[in-house]
Amino acid sequence: SLSPAARTPSVARIPAAALHDAAGRFGTPLYVYNAAELDAAVARVQAAFGDARVYYAMKANPNLSVLRRLFAAGVGFECVSPGEIARAEHVGAAGDALLVNGPAKSDAEYAAGGRLGATFIVDRAGEAPLLPPGSRVLVRVNPALAVSTHDHLATGAANSKFGVTPEQVPPLLDALRAAGHTPLGLHVHIGSAIRDAHDFTAAFGRLAELRPHTGPLAVLDAGGGWGLDADLPGIAREAWAAAHAFGAQLWVEPGRYLVARAGTLLTRVVGTKRTGRDFCLVDAGMTELMRPMLYGAVHPVTAVGKAAVDEAAGEVGLWDLAGPACESGDVLARDVPLPAPQRGDLLAIGEAGAYGAAMSSSYLTRSRPAEALWDGSDWTLIRRRETPQDVWAMEL
Ligand code: LLP
Repeated sequence: SLSPAARTPSVARIPAAALHDAAGRFGTPLYVYNAAELDAAVARVQAAFGDARVYYAMKANPNLSVLRRLFAAGVGFECVSPGEIARAEHVGAAGDALLVNGPAKSDAEYAAGGRLGATFIVDRAGEAPLLPPGSRVLVRVNPALAVSTHDHLATGAANSKFGVTPEQVPPLLDALRAAGHTPLGLHVHIGSAIRDAHDFTAAFGRLAELRPHTGPLAVLDAGGGWGLDADLPGIAREAWAAAHAFGAQLWVEPGRYLVARAGTLLTRVVGTKRTGRDFCLVDAGMTELMRPMLYGAVHPVTAVGKAAVDEAAGEVGLWDLAGPACESGDVLARDVPLPAPQRGDLLAIGEAGAYGAAMSSSYLTRSRPAEALWDGSDWTLIRRRETPQDVWAMEL
């Protein structure tokens, strides 16, 4: 019943036959990305935010091929580690195209960012003497808001480690100027996968309230955090309103929004068992996709090229998709409607382009998965599968 003529899984927007082809050529588990979806996401952001400068938060998916494609579309990068700065440099980004951020930057990050002419996002007063001389900086403001997302993903709450309080902003701007740096403006990022648009309205409003205490500023960086169904034009309107209050240019830092929908994790059914639950065991798990275990994230699952056939035959049951790891938390999805799963069936786990491959691990000496890019007619392998030897290569 795995007919290539069956319907294309909407999670992938890649023809089922092409997904089978990729799984056959590169093996599973496999991350696949649709280039057209990447381009479409960039276009949606650019259309909604107009002249805003877009910095991709590369933590979401740092694959060099993804970075090159986004850079070619005019997108800069937000980097939060020496390795991310090195990736940006490797694809040719520097100066205006680079933001260096982080709550606990190392000497290596100050040095590399300085050498490349990056703008730094200052997270605490103590950074003033650590920055390279004459740095361009933004000050990260923590608006102290309860944010509608998983606790681990909220960064603008009063108890979060990020940024400075609104009251601390004016003296910090003065201290940065006195130290010879150039404060371009303010930065706010209240969290990730935010469900309620009012959170953004509240955060940008807190920033705008600072205007009488800061005077005009050149830049307002509204961060990222947009859920996949976010009303981008609405968020853009609020962000621009806050920017205009300062006479500022708007910058944004989306991660998930740019890459999540383009990515799919392909995994094969290993077998099934009916015990306390009905389990469909697959060859991917928490080591390939950590988000369900870590944040209770829900990803759509489709049987590639099979659903349409067997739904009609009334053979669809509800299955818990479980991986190969020896941990009970290694469940990728619960109550997934699947048509009579058979060993070897190919499943597509959608919306996995952000924080999927990026957070995969070699725990259990599992080989991190390969990644392939679909250009509409063919596949390019953009990361080969790790081997066990790769995993232990650094051990002496
Ligand atoms: N800017 C800053 C300062 C950030 O810390 C982040 C993400 C972003 C931008 C991009 O946020 P996005 O648009 O992707 O929501 N591992 C988690 C997500 C952690 C996000 C960390 N910061 C997950 O799998 O959902």
